[in-house]
Parts: sequence; structure tokens; C-alpha cells
Amino acid sequence: MSRPVTDKQFRALIENSGDGLALIAADGSILYASPPGARILGRDAITSIGRPALDLVHAQDLSRACTFCQRLRQTPGTSPSCQVRVQHQDGSWRWLEITASNLLDDPGVGAIVTNFRDISERKQAEEEHGQALARTHAARNAAETAAERLRAIQTITDAALGYLTLDESLRELLSRTRIVLAGDAAAILLLQEEQRQLTFRAVQGLDTAATNAVPLDDDIVGRIAKEGKPLIFEDLAELERGNPALKQRIRSLLGAPLLAEGDVIGVVFVGTASLCRFSEEDLRLLQLVADRAATVIEHARLFDQVRAGRERAQNLSQQLLEAQEAERRRLARELHDEIGQALTAVKLNLQGVQRAADPAIAGRLDESVAIVDRALQQVRNLSLDLRPSMLDDLGLVSALRWYLDKQAQRAGFVGEFVAGPMAIRAPANLETACFRVAQEALTNIVRHAKAKHVRMELREAGGELSLFIRDDGVGFDVAAARQRAVGGGSLGLLGMQERVVLSRGRIDIQSAAGRGTEIHVRLPLVPTLPPLERRSRRREP
Ligand SMILES: Nc1ncnc2c1ncn2[C@@H]1O[C@H](COP(=O)(O)OP(=O)(O)OP(=O)(O)O)[C@@H](O)[C@H]1O
Ligand SMILES: [Mg+2]
Repeated sequence: MSRPVTDKQFRALIENSGDGLALIAADGSILYASPPGARILGRDAITSIGRPALDLVHAQDLSRACTFCQRLRQTPGTSPSCQVRVQHQDGSWRWLEITASNLLDDPGVGAIVTNFRDISERKQAEEEHGQALARTHAARNAAETAAERLRAIQTITDAALGYLTLDESLRELLSRTRIVLAGDAAAILLLQEEQRQLTFRAVQGLDTAATNAVPLDDDIVGRIAKEGKPLIFEDLAELERGNPALKQRIRSLLGAPLLAEGDVIGVVFVGTASLCRFSEEDLRLLQLVADRAATVIEHARLFDQVRAGRERAQNLSQQLLEAQEAERRRLARELHDEIGQALTAVKLNLQGVQRAADPAIAGRLDESVAIVDRALQQVRNLSLDLRPSMLDDLGLVSALRWYLDKQAQRAGFVGEFVAGPMAIRAPANLETACFRVAQEALTNIVRHAKAKHVRMELREAGGELSLFIRDDGVGFDVAAARQRAVGGGSLGLLGMQERVVLSRGRIDIQSAAGRGTEIHVRLPLVPTLPPLERRSRRREP
């Protein structure tokens, strides 16, 4: 059977507990504080008696403490808890966790019974943990912002831009920049040095009035170009000068110069219709866009220069070839018509004299007629080599067949010629190009190949004129021969290539030592090609 607990035992329990205990009167003053409770606050238990308990509470926790007291009074019989800071004797603040029971109505107690413990260390640990969490959070936010920027930069300047034309690239660059920087308008302007002004090259969200050329002394865009550094204009309305049409549409503006090798070549800007605070980060992003735009523009300019140079060179080549063809035709005609006729007349005269001649000079006259005959043959050959009349009169097929036969006889190989059906006759310039390529290829075979058999094919297929020449000769290293030709070693291969390129065609040469050579030329039969020479079917008088 259990014995009732004595007062002394109760006192011992209270005095040796880890928690503090206090009794609070209805007016809020301390009636009793247990020695452990007084120790927690570094106070003497006796001196605490009679003090209003709320006097010890931190000012920032007072309202919470008052709410707690109110709840206690309104709901007797419950044991709510709260955490507040209470002042230690040494002036420092300690976090207490207080649990209280309202026993004011209990006639045997008549007080609020509070039980409290020091939770300062736990609170500090919680606080440090909270700070660490906040730091981690901030770091994660910063990392996410940086990643977002990176994604924005990648979105703006991705490789896809490289496949667009200059204007498409600039438009795309601008539209992406406007989206990323949440602008209402954006533009890229290029510097016209001579006129000391900037002209709009790509525009988004601006009406035409706002896109007139901007003088360099303009206070907004002109200033960015002149200073050569990115600028933020927080409120264009505050500026006295500056393009009024632009100010009507844009309130805040962010701009950066386009720089090529340190020189300003233009400006890019983004603007908003209402006031906006652009950040330094936005400025850096726009400068990246400006750098990319400058590169795109510089590449396009260089490309244009190269293309213009190439076009000039091709025009020159074309004119040279035209002049050469005209000259050859003139010489061929002269040889045939003038010198040929003169030699024929001389021959006829000699033959006339021969009949009545003294036998003493008959031998020398025979010899003279033979010399004139050989000269006539040479003149004819020369004339045909320069420009075979059948190319103009009978067309490419006849001219090629005749030329192959002639070379076959000359070099002693077997020539085989195959021509496919031709729906229409190719343009004169194309026939000339094709004949000249074949002429050089056959001359090379005669000079270098030691071939026994040569096959030549001419066809029309897929809107192209296709010429195929194959020999079974010694073959050669095409790459090495091309290299020598480029270095000035020879002209034939380069000449073929040039003729084909000028006709917008393709040439493929396959050869290897001991395996013969194959040349395949394809020339497009496009009627819209600019004529290299006027078609002439008849000999000019
Ligand atoms: N069908 C071929 N068979 C063997 N070698 C060839 C043939 N065609 C070209 N070659 C080789 O390629 C070289 C370059 O040819 P290319 O026509 O450019 O120059 P070339 O005939 O020597 O001189 P040219 O400038 O008078 O034409 C030739 O020197 C020859 O060695
Ligand atoms: Mg040659």
C-alpha cells in the first residue's frame, strides 16, 4: 500500500527538477519561483517575488506573451505553451519554453502554475540552421538566375543563326533579344560614316516615323555610338533633345554599340513603352547580343567583298574567252578565205604555167605545186584548229566526231564516238565550251596518254549536256597535276575547269597511273544563262 507523499518530498521534487516552476498571481505578479527556475534566470528566488512576470519579457515578444496570458485566463483547465525571450540577471536574453495551467479558480492554489525550461541553445541552433538554409536558398536562386541568363544568351545567339542571311539573322537576333529583355521595341542601326548618321537595318515594334536615319549628334542612339559603350536611359521623357518619334514610343531604353575590331559600326537597342528599370545584368546581355550582331555583319560584309571579287574575276574571264573566241574565228576565216584563196590561185597559176613549161623547169614547177599543196593543207588544218567551221554550221555533234577522227588519225588510236538524241540544239556558248573542253582533253590524250582506244559520249540528260571522254592510256595523278597547274606549270586542266565553271557546270576527272583517264563534264542547258557570245550559224561575210 502506498504512503501519501510528504510536503518535504514535494519540495525536494520541485527543488531538484531540471525545469523551473513559478506561481503567478491573478494580477500577473510572481508569487513563487522554484530555485531551479530562479537559477535559469540567474536570479535569487526570493527577490523575484512580487515582480510582474511580464516585466522580464523581451519587448518584441510582449504581445505574444499577452495573447498567451489572455488565452490562459479564458480557457481554464488547459495547458497551453509558448516561447518567449526573458531577461537574465546578467542582462542577456534567454529563450524559455513555458507551459502554464490556470488554477486561479482552484481555492487550494489560486495561481497560474507555470513550468519553464531554457531552450536558448536549441533556438540558436534553429536560427543558425535557418540562416544556413537562407544562404543555400540565395545561392540556389543566384545559380538559377545565372543559368537562366545563360539559356537566354544561348537562345539568342544559337548556331541556327549561322544558316540565315544577314537580314534574317539580324531580325531573328533582335526578336529573341526583345523577348528575353521584355522590351516593346528594338532595333539595330548601322553607322554610315560619310553621312555621320545611323540608319535602321532591323526594326521591331517601331513605326516608320521613328525609323528615320539618326544623326550622330543625337542624344540617345547617337550618344551610344559616339561613346562606344553600353548605356541605360531610365526615362527618355527627361531628355530635352533626342529623336521625338522615338521618345513618343519608348520610355526606358537600353543600348549597346556594335564593335568590329574596336571600331563602332552600329548600335543595338531595346526599349519599353512604360518606365522600366534595366539592370547591369541586362546591359551585359545586350552587349553580348551586340557583339554577335557585329560579327554577323562583319562576316556578311567580308562575304560580299569576296563574292564581288569573284564575280569581277569571272566576268573578266568570260570577256577574255569571248574575245579569244572572236579572235580565233577571225583568224580562222582570214586563213581560210584570204590566204587559202591566195594559195589556191598561186597553185592554179603554177599548174597553168606547168603545161607550157620548158622541160628544164618542169621539175621545179612540180616541186613548187607540191609545196603550195602542203601549205594549203597546213592553212586548212590551222584554220580548223582555231575554230572548226562545222561547229557553227553543223553543230557540236558533227564537230566533236570530226575532231575525234582527226586526232585518232594523227596519234594512231581507235576513236569511238557515241551521241545520244538531242531534243534541241544547245546554246552557242555551251557548244563552244563543250567543244573547247573536248579539244583540250583530246590534245592531252595525244600528247600524254599513249592510248590505244578513246571513247567519247555526248548526251542530253536531266536538263544537262553530258560529255564523257575515256582513254586507256598511262593515266596520271590528278591532284598533283592540278597542284602543278595552279603553281603555273600548265594551263590545259585549269582552262577546262574555268570554261565549265563559267557555264555553271561541273567537271569530274578520274585517273590513276596505268589505269587510263575518265573526264565527265556536265553543263546545264539553262536558256536564261547570259550569252557568252552571239550565236552565229553562218560565216560572217
Ligand atoms: N589523258 C591524260 N593522260 C595522261 N596524262 C594526262 C592526261 N591529261 C593530262 N595529263 C597530265 O596532266 C598534266 C596537266 O595537263 P595540262 O593539260 O594542264 O597541261 P599540259 O597538257 O602539260 O600543258 P598545256 O598547258 O599546254 O595544256 C599533263 O602534263 C599530263 O602529265
Ligand atoms: Mg594540255
